[in-house]
Amino acid sequence: MQAATGRLYVLNRISNSISIVSTNSESVLGEIPAGTFDPTPAVIRQGRGYLYDARLSGNGTQSCASCHIDGDRDDLAWNLGDPGGSMQTVTSPLNAAVFSMHPMKGPMTTQTLRGLFLTNPLHWRGDRTSFTSFNPAFVSVLGGAQLSPADIGAFRDFVNTIIYQPNPNQNPDRTMPALFPPGDPNAGDPNAGRSTFLNEDYQPNLRCATCHSLPLGTGRAIIPAGALQESQDFKVPHLRNVAQKLRFKRSATVVSLSGFGVTHDGADPDIVTFLTRPVFGTFSADTTRKRNLNAFMQCFDTGTAPAVGRTRTVSAATLAASGADWSLLEAQSVAANCDLVVRLLENGARRGFVYRPATNDYLSDQAATGPLTHAALAAKIASGATATIMGVPRTSGQRLGIDRNENATPNGDEPLPRLGLTFATGAPLLAWPVAGAGHVLEFTDSLNPPNWQPVTEPRTTAGPTLSVPDPTAGPCRFYRLRQP
Ligand code: HEC
Ligand code: HEC
Repeated sequence: MQAATGRLYVLNRISNSISIVSTNSESVLGEIPAGTFDPTPAVIRQGRGYLYDARLSGNGTQSCASCHIDGDRDDLAWNLGDPGGSMQTVTSPLNAAVFSMHPMKGPMTTQTLRGLFLTNPLHWRGDRTSFTSFNPAFVSVLGGAQLSPADIGAFRDFVNTIIYQPNPNQNPDRTMPALFPPGDPNAGDPNAGRSTFLNEDYQPNLRCATCHSLPLGTGRAIIPAGALQESQDFKVPHLRNVAQKLRFKRSATVVSLSGFGVTHDGADPDIVTFLTRPVFGTFSADTTRKRNLNAFMQCFDTGTAPAVGRTRTVSAATLAASGADWSLLEAQSVAANCDLVVRLLENGARRGFVYRPATNDYLSDQAATGPLTHAALAAKIASGATATIMGVPRTSGQRLGIDRNENATPNGDEPLPRLGLTFATGAPLLAWPVAGAGHVLEFTDSLNPPNWQPVTEPRTTAGPTLSVPDPTAGPCRFYRLRQP
């Protein structure tokens, strides 16, 4: 906000542009590219808006993200039943079993939109076939209108890119600790809990994994109310975010960070209380097994390994101390738990690398810099370069390490944009392709010595071309485009 000139500058997240708004006339004066490279893949750019755009609701104030905050949960339960609705017939896609479900479903906690891929049918009761069957929610929940088939398809494709963060309760190498949660009276052995979950019956022929099959924690079946000893039929829920639902304390004297816990209505504050329900047969009074299962539930794999996002910035002074972390990330990449990228800053120049487990070396973002070994990178760091090493989601190493726009030409070999110069109304007008919007335009009035300064005039776009006038130019001026 620049009060003196009545200008408001708005950074537009999805279009990666800046809108210039006049606060006097309350109108948009112009929109210019933000001038930075936007690494957002197309599938996200095209579908992300449907999650957040409040204009898609009837009164312009709500969006799916009002409850699915950042595509996740609000930690609340809502009674979104329809008092004027009728009974719904739901057929399980697994075994064609038919269920009759009431339109007043009662309070249900908001579910996450992370990791929905492969978990159909959806909702606590499994009463929605797939993500696109949520199009009517734009009408029934948001009071707006349904999206076109193409738009709901773009929304679905975006939602399918949302994955879980790693489970912080696992060890960095994705194994589980010997005891969890440390210091808790209900701590148990998660590895023993996993074994119980997979192998031990709590009723004849019934064990946790009968319904909660791994890796998601759900076989996706809908289970009749009677078998659950509950009031309604429910789909077997996945278990990848149970660890995040345990901040509810059902005591008037203890501070509770959440009002809801586990199961559809969030009634149970913790796993041990839940497993004490009579439906859990022999386990309901078995303290050791309940504690071990409690530990396993809290260390449950989310599908994203702890190595993802693990980062170290290494200089000569910290090279030795970072060795174990660097080796761990290489081993995790070999184990297909993450990809591994390195950003090297050497003599002011930035280079990207991606680790190749098969050949145990680092491929560079420039054909002229051949693949380097760990030892060669370490030697550069020892003699003054700085490197940031980072575990990234599998299959994104190429994009994040060496080819940011995924056009198969590595970043360092991208042709530089050509700068054009014309004269318009007496002032130089500089122009270059919009694809080079991330470059900085600089000038100097002498090359002996040069004094490069950014040209700060606003940029305008016309079709594929960006242009900037420079009314401050004197009789002689040099220009260059610099890669930031
Ligand atoms: C008022 C809060 C609220 C809003 C707004 C909302 N949801 Fe939900 N969402 C919920 C609740 C509560 C559930 C669980 C309901 C149930 O199981 O019957 C849920 C469940 C879901 C699920 C099922 C996830 C799973 O794992 O099965 C999807 C998908 C979903 N919502 C999509 C949407 C979309 C798309 C929109 C916007 C059109 C939206 N939601 C708006 C509260 C909300
Ligand atoms: C017969 C199938 C079945 C078996 C066997 C089963 N569950 Fe479940 N489980 C369900 C269903 C259905 C729900 C949803 C109930 C609800 O929401 O009220 C559920 C809910 C849960 C939840 C709550 C998830 C959440 O996000 O709130 C946990 C945790 C859980 N089960 C763990 C276990 C463990 C541990 C075992 C073994 C001791 C087990 N379950 C055995 C069907 C089963």
